[in-house]
Amino acid sequence: MQLAIPPLTEDLKRVLIDADTIRSRVDELAAEINRDYKDITEPLVIVGVLKGSVFFLTDLARKLRIPHIIDFIAISSYGKNGDKRGEVRFLMDTRESITDRHVLIVEDILDSGHTLAYLTQNFEARHPLSVKKAVFLDKPARHEVETEIHYKGFDIPDVWVVGYGLDYKEEYRTLPYIAEMIPKN
Ligand code: IMP
Ligand code: MG
Repeated sequence: MQLAIPPLTEDLKRVLIDADTIRSRVDELAAEINRDYKDITEPLVIVGVLKGSVFFLTDLARKLRIPHIIDFIAISSYGKNGDKRGEVRFLMDTRESITDRHVLIVEDILDSGHTLAYLTQNFEARHPLSVKKAVFLDKPARHEVETEIHYKGFDIPDVWVVGYGLDYKEEYRTLPYIAEMIPKN
């Protein structure tokens, strides 16, 4: 059965990345991860940053053929309005210990880079075997701090995007594509 694709609403300007393109890129990233971790003996701990990464993470993880477990963290970041720039706070930590384990952090989008830079430092301090990062989208024009990304879906221009987990004020997360949006306010 073919499901109808939700149409663009008036807030959404255009589809930037359609569902088929997303699917094939996620397959490619999963193949890379399968190759890179093919020799691990302990399960890879995949840590999704709630909520935006959930769709990417579940699609990616279902294509993995290496031992892995999934876990989540929730954080809040300040600085979107200029104050307390780049401050990140944990709302929920991993359930699993990451000490002596291989860890893959999964994020929806790299913007200023503060979130992933902070998480990398925080995780490294717990002495994992390794920490790598996967992001679905990257806005290179917005970086304020550099952090190494090991698996990346797509580079995008400096526009607000929604869908495939990404939101605008909690809306639009479940769109199956990435759309550029024009916030009304
Ligand atoms: P940063 O890299 O620390 O600046 O923050 C990245 C976070 O900002 C992401 O995890 C998203 O929650 C949010 N974000 C940045 N750009 C967008 C966007 O275009 N749409 C939706 N969320 C975004
Ligand atoms: Mg986020």
